[in-house]
Amino acid sequence: MRVGILTGGGDCPGLNAVIRAVTRKGIVHYGYDVLGIKNGWLGLIEGKIFPLDLNVISGILPRGGTILGTTRTNPFMVEDGVGKIFSQVEKFELDAVIAVGGEDTLGVAYKLYEKGLRCVGIPKTIDNDLSGTDYTFGFDTAVSIVAEALDRLHTTAEAHHRVMVVEVMGRHAGWIAIEGGLAGGADIILIPEFPFDMDEICAQIHKRRERGKLFSIVVVAEGAKPRDASLIIQSEEKDAFGHVRLGGIGNIIAREIEMRTAIDTRVTVLGYIQRGGSPTAFDRILATRFGVGAIELVKEEKFGFMVGLRGNHVVPVPLREALAQPKTVDAEFYDIAKVFFG
Ligand code: F6P
Repeated sequence: MRVGILTGGGDCPGLNAVIRAVTRKGIVHYGYDVLGIKNGWLGLIEGKIFPLDLNVISGILPRGGTILGTTRTNPFMVEDGVGKIFSQVEKFELDAVIAVGGEDTLGVAYKLYEKGLRCVGIPKTIDNDLSGTDYTFGFDTAVSIVAEALDRLHTTAEAHHRVMVVEVMGRHAGWIAIEGGLAGGADIILIPEFPFDMDEICAQIHKRRERGKLFSIVVVAEGAKPRDASLIIQSEEKDAFGHVRLGGIGNIIAREIEMRTAIDTRVTVLGYIQRGGSPTAFDRILATRFGVGAIELVKEEKFGFMVGLRGNHVVPVPLREALAQPKTVDAEFYDIAKVFFG
């Protein structure tokens, strides 16, 4: 059996751990040939495919990024992209393709599966917004980075009696903001699921000052929006999956807070720091379990499925089900965060 693996979409900590697990399980346990496909779907279109062996994967477990490279290439937007993929699959005699990605990469995997590609998925995204799995790897690392940043920002905010606005990633879902904010003791958390009201935010900041706390930490997800306006867009240019580039909401909120309250306010945009560097132990283990699980799916010929974590079990999840709708933060969880607002 010849199995190709690719990583697509935004990178995240744990991708190398997953590549290592797929390769090791495939080669050592089942005697498969495992091949690395470079740069996501682009590498499959272009035939940039090379053999992985135990030496290539040695030492990569703790490394961030992906040794395979990644792009946001959508083969359905490339001229004859799909045709080229099927030709390369034939040329390299691939019996199965493992696609590691978020909703975009796995969306392509599902569409190609429907066209006959023997494909299984592994969910990854720091945003944790994929249905069908309790967690995606990369998320725990991102949350830990946010929590550590908040610890640091607390001391400087307190020393200067400032409001500190911290913008974190999260396009459609506020998982990083809410979990990072809870872990780091944020005073206000704003997420895309629940549009915010500037008057309420300022009232909370005032209330906190009245009880003697002269600083506030406001965590805002990049996709958060005011109650009566739309997304704050940094660039109108869309990627191959139709996403505009977000960013800028932190600055807008900080400006408003300072204008309305006359309290010194600063902004920190955590940006790609959240995606870089070494994965946490949790993410290394989850990625490893997912990699091993994906090879089992290939062995069982469960194509059109991805691995998912449910409870503490790695289970097969139909890609169709996982992609039906994004996993977002519900009101019950947001209510827990609200206990600590103000
Ligand atoms: O997919 C994760 C994510 O981190 C989003 O939260 C963010 O909007 C996006 O990637 C930005 O990634 P890039 O600039 O690499 O397209």
